[in-house]
Amino acid sequence: MAKTIKVGVIGAGMISSPHLEGYQKCPNVEVVAICDVLADRTKAAAEKYDIPKTFTSVGRMLAMKEIDAVSICTPNINHMQSTLKALAAGKHVLCEKPIAMNARQAQTMIDAARKAKKKLMIALMNRFYAGSQFLKKIIDAGKIGKPYYARSLSIRRRGVPSWGVFGQKKLQGGGPLIDIGVHMIDLTWYLMGCPKPVAVSGKTYETIGATPGHMGAFGPWDHKTYDVEDFATALVRFANGATMSIESAFCVNLDKDAYGCHIVGDKGGAGIDLQKNVVDVRTEMGGHIMDCTPKHIRENNAYHDEIAAFVDAVANNKPVPIPATEAIWTTKIIDAIYASSKANKEIRLK
Ligand SMILES: NC(=O)c1ccc[n+]([C@@H]2O[C@H](COP(=O)([O-])OP(=O)(O)OC[C@H]3O[C@@H](n4cnc5c(N)ncnc54)[C@H](O)[C@@H]3O)[C@@H](O)[C@H]2O)c1
Repeated sequence: MAKTIKVGVIGAGMISSPHLEGYQKCPNVEVVAICDVLADRTKAAAEKYDIPKTFTSVGRMLAMKEIDAVSICTPNINHMQSTLKALAAGKHVLCEKPIAMNARQAQTMIDAARKAKKKLMIALMNRFYAGSQFLKKIIDAGKIGKPYYARSLSIRRRGVPSWGVFGQKKLQGGGPLIDIGVHMIDLTWYLMGCPKPVAVSGKTYETIGATPGHMGAFGPWDHKTYDVEDFATALVRFANGATMSIESAFCVNLDKDAYGCHIVGDKGGAGIDLQKNVVDVRTEMGGHIMDCTPKHIRENNAYHDEIAAFVDAVANNKPVPIPATEAIWTTKIIDAIYASSKANKEIRLK
Protein backbone atom coordinates (compact mmCIF):
# COMPACT_ATOMS: atom_id res chain seq x y z
CA MET A 1 0.00 0.00 0.00
CA ALA A 2 1.24 3.51 -0.84
CA LYS A 3 2.73 5.39 2.11
CA THR A 4 0.61 8.16 3.63
CA ILE A 5 2.33 11.55 3.32
CA LYS A 6 2.13 13.46 6.59
CA VAL A 7 1.97 17.21 6.26
CA GLY A 8 2.38 20.20 8.56
CA VAL A 9 1.22 23.71 7.64
CA ILE A 10 3.09 26.84 8.79
CA GLY A 11 0.86 29.94 8.87
CA ALA A 12 -2.91 29.69 9.36
CA GLY A 13 -4.02 32.85 7.55
CA MET A 14 -5.90 33.39 4.31
CA ILE A 15 -3.84 31.23 1.93
CA SER A 16 -3.63 28.27 4.31
CA SER A 17 -7.27 27.36 3.50
CA PRO A 18 -6.72 26.36 -0.16
CA HIS A 19 -3.62 24.42 0.96
CA LEU A 20 -5.60 22.55 3.61
CA GLU A 21 -8.50 21.90 1.24
CA GLY A 22 -6.05 20.72 -1.42
CA TYR A 23 -4.39 18.27 0.99
CA GLN A 24 -7.80 17.01 2.14
CA LYS A 25 -8.58 16.12 -1.47
CA CYS A 26 -5.45 13.92 -1.72
CA PRO A 27 -6.31 10.37 -0.59
CA ASN A 28 -2.70 9.64 0.44
CA VAL A 29 -2.23 12.73 2.66
CA GLU A 30 -2.86 13.40 6.32
CA VAL A 31 -2.41 16.93 7.69
CA VAL A 32 -1.07 16.18 11.15
CA ALA A 33 -0.18 19.64 12.46
CA ILE A 34 -0.64 23.37 11.97
CA CYS A 35 1.42 26.22 13.38
CA ASP A 36 0.82 29.97 13.65
CA VAL A 37 2.16 32.57 16.03
CA LEU A 38 -1.51 33.37 16.71
CA ALA A 39 -3.02 30.49 18.71
CA ASP A 40 -6.63 31.42 17.89
CA ARG A 41 -5.87 30.93 14.19
CA THR A 42 -4.43 27.43 14.65
CA LYS A 43 -7.38 26.52 16.87
CA ALA A 44 -9.89 27.66 14.25
CA ALA A 45 -8.06 25.81 11.45
CA ALA A 46 -7.66 22.66 13.56
CA GLU A 47 -11.40 22.63 14.27
CA LYS A 48 -12.41 23.32 10.69
CA TYR A 49 -9.99 20.86 9.06
CA ASP A 50 -9.75 18.28 11.82
CA ILE A 51 -6.00 18.67 12.42
CA PRO A 52 -4.76 16.78 15.50
CA LYS A 53 -1.88 19.01 16.65
CA THR A 54 -1.46 22.78 16.89
CA PHE A 55 1.68 24.81 17.61
CA THR A 56 2.73 28.43 18.02
CA SER A 57 6.41 27.54 17.50
CA VAL A 58 7.64 26.39 14.07
CA GLY A 59 10.61 24.58 15.66
CA ARG A 60 8.35 22.50 17.90
CA MET A 61 6.13 21.47 15.02
CA LEU A 62 9.13 20.55 12.89
CA ALA A 63 10.40 18.30 15.69
CA MET A 64 7.53 15.94 14.82
CA LYS A 65 9.47 13.12 13.13
CA GLU A 66 6.44 11.81 11.25
CA ILE A 67 6.02 15.02 9.21
CA ASP A 68 7.26 14.41 5.64
CA ALA A 69 6.41 17.76 4.09
CA VAL A 70 5.30 21.27 4.99
CA SER A 71 3.41 24.10 3.34
CA ILE A 72 4.77 27.54 4.20
CA CYS A 73 1.89 30.03 4.26
CA THR A 74 3.46 32.90 6.23
CA PRO A 75 4.19 36.47 5.07
CA ASN A 76 7.13 36.88 2.66
CA ILE A 77 9.54 37.94 5.40
CA ASN A 78 9.27 34.49 6.96
CA HIS A 79 9.58 32.34 3.80
CA MET A 80 13.35 31.88 3.96
CA GLN A 81 13.51 31.33 7.71
CA SER A 82 10.76 28.69 7.82
CA THR A 83 12.07 27.00 4.66
CA LEU A 84 15.59 26.69 6.09
CA LYS A 85 14.23 25.29 9.36
CA ALA A 86 11.99 22.78 7.56
CA LEU A 87 14.76 21.60 5.23
CA ALA A 88 17.16 21.24 8.16
CA ALA A 89 14.52 19.10 9.89
CA GLY A 90 14.39 16.84 6.81
CA LYS A 91 11.02 17.96 5.42
CA HIS A 92 10.05 18.61 1.78
CA VAL A 93 8.76 22.16 1.31
CA LEU A 94 5.98 23.82 -0.67
CA CYS A 95 6.54 27.54 -0.07
CA GLU A 96 4.05 30.24 -0.97
CA LYS A 97 5.00 32.85 -3.56
CA PRO A 98 7.13 34.88 -3.92
CA ILE A 99 9.95 32.47 -3.15
CA ALA A 100 11.48 35.09 -0.81
CA MET A 101 11.98 38.81 -0.17
CA ASN A 102 14.77 38.91 -2.78
CA ALA A 103 16.95 36.68 -4.96
CA ARG A 104 19.76 36.53 -2.38
CA GLN A 105 17.40 34.86 0.11
CA ALA A 106 16.04 32.64 -2.68
CA GLN A 107 19.56 31.40 -3.50
CA THR A 108 20.14 30.55 0.19
CA MET A 109 16.94 28.46 0.12
CA ILE A 110 18.01 26.68 -3.09
CA ASP A 111 21.43 25.87 -1.62
CA ALA A 112 19.80 24.51 1.55
CA ALA A 113 17.41 22.28 -0.41
CA ARG A 114 20.33 20.90 -2.43
CA LYS A 115 22.28 20.22 0.76
CA ALA A 116 19.32 18.58 2.51
CA LYS A 117 18.43 16.61 -0.67
CA LYS A 118 14.78 17.65 -0.19
CA LYS A 119 12.22 19.06 -2.60
CA LEU A 120 11.52 22.79 -2.65
CA MET A 121 8.54 23.88 -4.75
CA ILE A 122 7.17 27.42 -5.01
CA ALA A 123 3.39 27.95 -5.14
CA LEU A 124 3.15 29.92 -8.40
CA MET A 125 -0.27 28.47 -9.01
CA ASN A 126 -1.20 30.44 -12.16
CA ARG A 127 0.63 27.76 -14.11
CA PHE A 128 -1.97 25.22 -12.99
CA TYR A 129 -5.07 26.86 -14.49
CA ALA A 130 -6.50 24.73 -17.28
CA GLY A 131 -6.28 27.75 -19.64
CA SER A 132 -2.58 28.23 -18.81
CA GLN A 133 -1.89 24.56 -19.47
CA PHE A 134 -3.78 24.77 -22.79
CA LEU A 135 -1.68 27.77 -23.89
CA LYS A 136 1.54 26.07 -22.80
CA LYS A 137 0.69 23.09 -24.98
CA ILE A 138 -0.10 25.08 -28.09
CA ILE A 139 2.88 27.45 -27.70
CA ASP A 140 5.27 24.54 -27.12
CA ALA A 141 3.77 22.83 -30.19
CA GLY A 142 4.88 25.84 -32.26
CA LYS A 143 1.36 27.07 -33.10
CA ILE A 144 2.30 30.75 -32.67
CA GLY A 145 5.88 30.29 -33.90
CA LYS A 146 8.80 31.60 -31.89
CA PRO A 147 7.66 33.89 -29.04
CA TYR A 148 9.46 37.24 -29.30
CA TYR A 149 7.33 39.63 -27.25
CA ALA A 150 5.00 39.29 -24.27
CA ARG A 151 2.91 41.48 -22.01
CA SER A 152 2.41 40.67 -18.33
CA LEU A 153 -0.51 42.54 -16.76
CA SER A 154 -1.54 42.48 -13.10
CA ILE A 155 -3.39 45.75 -12.72
CA ARG A 156 -5.85 46.82 -10.04
CA ARG A 157 -7.23 50.33 -10.22
CA ARG A 158 -7.94 50.34 -6.46
CA GLY A 159 -7.02 46.91 -5.10
CA VAL A 160 -4.76 47.30 -2.08
CA PRO A 161 -5.35 44.25 0.15
CA SER A 162 -7.09 45.37 3.34
CA TRP A 163 -5.78 42.33 5.29
CA GLY A 164 -2.28 41.00 6.01
CA VAL A 165 0.92 43.04 5.58
CA PHE A 166 0.86 43.57 1.81
CA GLY A 167 1.54 47.32 2.05
CA GLN A 168 4.62 47.01 4.30
CA LYS A 169 7.96 46.82 2.56
CA LYS A 170 9.90 45.45 5.52
CA LEU A 171 7.54 42.45 5.80
CA GLN A 172 6.76 41.91 2.11
CA GLY A 173 9.86 43.08 0.22
CA GLY A 174 7.71 45.22 -2.11
CA GLY A 175 4.18 45.97 -3.31
CA PRO A 176 2.06 44.76 -6.23
CA LEU A 177 5.11 43.60 -8.19
CA ILE A 178 6.14 41.10 -5.52
CA ASP A 179 2.56 40.13 -4.62
CA ILE A 180 0.48 39.84 -7.82
CA GLY A 181 3.15 40.76 -10.40
CA VAL A 182 5.23 37.73 -9.40
CA HIS A 183 2.37 35.39 -10.38
CA MET A 184 1.82 36.96 -13.78
CA ILE A 185 5.49 37.52 -14.64
CA ASP A 186 6.11 33.85 -13.83
CA LEU A 187 3.20 32.66 -15.99
CA THR A 188 4.23 34.89 -18.91
CA TRP A 189 7.86 33.76 -18.69
CA TYR A 190 6.80 30.08 -18.43
CA LEU A 191 4.58 30.41 -21.52
CA MET A 192 7.47 32.08 -23.40
CA GLY A 193 9.55 28.95 -22.69
CA CYS A 194 11.59 30.31 -19.74
CA PRO A 195 14.16 32.35 -21.73
CA LYS A 196 17.15 33.71 -19.82
CA PRO A 197 16.61 37.34 -18.71
CA VAL A 198 19.66 39.53 -19.32
CA ALA A 199 18.55 43.13 -18.68
CA VAL A 200 15.72 45.02 -17.02
CA SER A 201 14.60 48.65 -17.18
CA GLY A 202 11.80 49.62 -14.84
CA LYS A 203 10.13 52.36 -12.86
CA THR A 204 7.91 52.25 -9.80
CA TYR A 205 5.51 54.99 -8.64
CA GLU A 206 4.06 55.90 -5.25
CA THR A 207 1.15 58.32 -5.64
CA ILE A 208 -2.00 56.91 -3.99
CA GLY A 209 -1.46 54.13 -1.42
CA ALA A 210 0.12 56.20 1.33
CA THR A 211 -2.36 59.08 1.20
CA PRO A 212 -5.72 58.99 3.04
CA GLY A 213 -9.15 59.31 1.49
CA HIS A 214 -8.99 56.90 -1.46
CA MET A 215 -11.62 54.25 -2.15
CA GLY A 216 -10.56 50.58 -1.97
CA ALA A 217 -12.21 47.70 -3.84
CA PHE A 218 -11.20 45.42 -0.94
CA GLY A 219 -12.25 47.93 1.72
CA PRO A 220 -10.11 50.56 3.41
CA TRP A 221 -6.42 49.80 3.84
CA ASP A 222 -3.94 51.24 6.31
CA HIS A 223 -2.36 54.14 4.40
CA LYS A 224 -0.21 54.98 7.44
CA THR A 225 1.83 51.77 7.17
CA TYR A 226 1.70 51.68 3.34
CA ASP A 227 5.21 52.21 1.98
CA VAL A 228 5.34 50.01 -1.14
CA GLU A 229 4.91 51.03 -4.78
CA ASP A 230 1.40 51.63 -6.19
CA PHE A 231 2.38 50.87 -9.76
CA ALA A 232 5.37 49.43 -11.61
CA THR A 233 6.23 49.24 -15.28
CA ALA A 234 9.21 47.52 -16.88
CA LEU A 235 10.80 46.03 -19.96
CA VAL A 236 12.78 42.80 -19.67
CA ARG A 237 15.26 41.75 -22.36
CA PHE A 238 16.06 38.05 -22.83
CA ALA A 239 19.19 36.37 -24.20
CA ASN A 240 17.22 35.04 -27.21
CA GLY A 241 16.21 38.57 -28.27
CA ALA A 242 12.66 38.35 -26.86
CA THR A 243 11.22 41.07 -24.60
CA MET A 244 8.50 41.22 -21.95
CA SER A 245 6.67 44.35 -20.84
CA ILE A 246 5.25 44.43 -17.34
CA GLU A 247 2.53 46.53 -15.70
CA SER A 248 1.56 45.80 -12.12
CA ALA A 249 -0.53 47.89 -9.74
CA PHE A 250 -2.42 47.89 -6.45
CA CYS A 251 -3.73 51.33 -7.40
CA VAL A 252 -3.39 53.24 -10.66
CA ASN A 253 -5.73 55.48 -12.63
CA LEU A 254 -5.88 53.23 -15.71
CA ASP A 255 -9.11 52.39 -17.54
CA LYS A 256 -9.60 48.84 -16.34
CA ASP A 257 -8.23 46.08 -14.16
CA ALA A 258 -6.28 43.34 -15.92
CA TYR A 259 -4.90 40.02 -14.82
CA GLY A 260 -3.46 38.10 -17.71
CA CYS A 261 -0.79 37.94 -20.36
CA HIS A 262 -0.24 37.99 -24.11
CA ILE A 263 2.47 36.16 -26.01
CA VAL A 264 3.39 37.17 -29.56
CA GLY A 265 5.18 34.88 -32.02
CA ASP A 266 6.07 35.11 -35.71
CA LYS A 267 3.17 32.83 -36.70
CA GLY A 268 0.48 34.01 -34.27
CA GLY A 269 -0.32 35.23 -30.81
CA ALA A 270 -2.02 33.89 -27.70
CA GLY A 271 -3.31 35.29 -24.47
CA ILE A 272 -5.13 34.49 -21.27
CA ASP A 273 -7.43 36.60 -19.11
CA LEU A 274 -7.42 34.97 -15.69
CA GLN A 275 -10.14 37.30 -14.39
CA LYS A 276 -12.58 35.83 -16.92
CA ASN A 277 -10.94 32.45 -17.55
CA VAL A 278 -10.78 33.28 -21.27
CA VAL A 279 -8.03 32.13 -23.61
CA ASP A 280 -7.56 33.41 -27.14
CA VAL A 281 -5.29 32.39 -30.01
CA ARG A 282 -4.64 34.82 -32.85
CA THR A 283 -3.75 33.42 -36.24
CA GLU A 284 -4.44 33.59 -39.98
CA MET A 285 -6.59 31.01 -41.72
CA GLY A 286 -7.83 30.68 -45.30
CA GLY A 287 -6.43 34.10 -46.12
CA HIS A 288 -8.19 35.77 -43.21
CA ILE A 289 -7.18 37.17 -39.84
CA MET A 290 -8.63 34.85 -37.20
CA ASP A 291 -9.29 34.97 -33.46
CA CYS A 292 -9.83 31.50 -31.99
CA THR A 293 -11.40 31.02 -28.59
CA PRO A 294 -12.01 27.59 -27.06
CA LYS A 295 -15.72 26.97 -26.65
CA HIS A 296 -15.13 25.64 -23.18
CA ILE A 297 -12.16 25.81 -20.84
CA ARG A 298 -12.34 23.47 -17.89
CA GLU A 299 -12.91 25.40 -14.63
CA ASN A 300 -10.32 23.95 -12.31
CA ASN A 301 -9.09 24.84 -8.86
CA ALA A 302 -5.46 25.73 -9.57
CA TYR A 303 -4.60 25.66 -5.84
CA HIS A 304 -5.83 22.11 -5.47
CA ASP A 305 -4.04 20.99 -8.64
CA GLU A 306 -0.84 22.63 -7.37
CA ILE A 307 -1.09 20.78 -4.04
CA ALA A 308 -1.82 17.48 -5.84
CA ALA A 309 1.28 18.01 -8.03
CA PHE A 310 3.46 18.66 -4.97
CA VAL A 311 2.10 15.56 -3.22
CA ASP A 312 2.67 13.47 -6.36
CA ALA A 313 6.32 14.65 -6.52
CA VAL A 314 6.88 13.79 -2.84
CA ALA A 315 5.02 10.47 -2.91
CA ASN A 316 6.61 9.22 -6.11
CA ASN A 317 10.01 10.91 -5.75
CA LYS A 318 9.55 12.96 -8.93
CA PRO A 319 10.95 16.44 -9.63
CA VAL A 320 8.55 19.16 -8.43
CA PRO A 321 6.79 21.01 -11.29
CA ILE A 322 7.86 24.50 -10.10
CA PRO A 323 11.31 24.15 -8.57
CA ALA A 324 12.85 27.01 -6.62
CA THR A 325 15.61 27.09 -9.25
CA GLU A 326 12.97 28.34 -11.75
CA ALA A 327 11.05 30.57 -9.34
CA ILE A 328 14.20 32.53 -8.49
CA TRP A 329 14.23 34.06 -12.01
CA THR A 330 10.99 35.97 -11.45
CA THR A 331 12.44 37.31 -8.21
CA LYS A 332 15.66 38.31 -10.01
CA ILE A 333 13.53 40.26 -12.51
CA ILE A 334 11.58 41.97 -9.71
CA ASP A 335 14.76 42.84 -7.78
CA ALA A 336 16.13 44.38 -10.99
CA ILE A 337 12.96 46.46 -11.55
CA TYR A 338 13.33 47.98 -8.08
CA ALA A 339 17.06 48.52 -8.62
CA SER A 340 16.49 50.05 -12.06
CA SER A 341 13.84 52.40 -10.72
CA LYS A 342 16.12 53.56 -7.92
CA ALA A 343 19.19 54.00 -10.13
CA ASN A 344 17.24 55.35 -13.13
CA LYS A 345 19.07 53.02 -15.51
CA GLU A 346 18.93 49.55 -17.08
CA ILE A 347 20.19 46.72 -14.85
CA ARG A 348 22.09 43.77 -16.33
CA LEU A 349 21.24 40.33 -14.89
CA LYS A 350 23.72 37.51 -14.24
N1 LIG B 1 -0.93 31.88 -4.23
C1 LIG B 1 -1.76 32.90 -4.01
O1 LIG B 1 -2.63 33.20 -4.82
C2 LIG B 1 -1.62 33.66 -2.73
C3 LIG B 1 -2.72 34.42 -2.27
C4 LIG B 1 -2.57 35.09 -1.04
C5 LIG B 1 -1.37 35.05 -0.36
N2 LIG B 1 -0.32 34.32 -0.86
C6 LIG B 1 0.98 34.29 -0.14
O2 LIG B 1 0.79 33.59 1.09
C7 LIG B 1 1.55 34.21 2.12
C8 LIG B 1 0.62 34.54 3.29
O3 LIG B 1 -0.42 35.37 2.84
P1 LIG B 1 -1.86 35.39 3.56
O4 LIG B 1 -2.76 36.17 2.68
O5 LIG B 1 -2.24 34.02 3.98
O6 LIG B 1 -1.48 36.28 4.84
P2 LIG B 1 -2.20 36.26 6.26
O7 LIG B 1 -1.68 37.47 6.94
O8 LIG B 1 -3.66 36.06 6.11
O9 LIG B 1 -1.62 34.93 6.97
C9 LIG B 1 -0.27 34.76 7.36
C10 LIG B 1 -0.23 34.00 8.67
O10 LIG B 1 1.11 33.71 9.01
C11 LIG B 1 1.23 33.84 10.44
N3 LIG B 1 2.64 34.01 10.77
C12 LIG B 1 3.40 35.11 10.62
N4 LIG B 1 4.67 34.85 11.03
C13 LIG B 1 4.69 33.55 11.44
C14 LIG B 1 5.70 32.72 11.97
N5 LIG B 1 6.94 33.14 12.16
N6 LIG B 1 5.37 31.44 12.29
C15 LIG B 1 4.10 31.00 12.13
N7 LIG B 1 3.11 31.76 11.62
C16 LIG B 1 3.39 33.02 11.29
C17 LIG B 1 0.37 35.05 10.76
O11 LIG B 1 0.02 35.10 12.12
C18 LIG B 1 -0.83 34.80 9.83
O12 LIG B 1 -1.84 34.07 10.47
C19 LIG B 1 2.24 35.43 1.51
O13 LIG B 1 3.57 35.10 1.21
C20 LIG B 1 1.47 35.67 0.21
O14 LIG B 1 2.29 36.20 -0.81
C21 LIG B 1 -0.45 33.62 -2.02
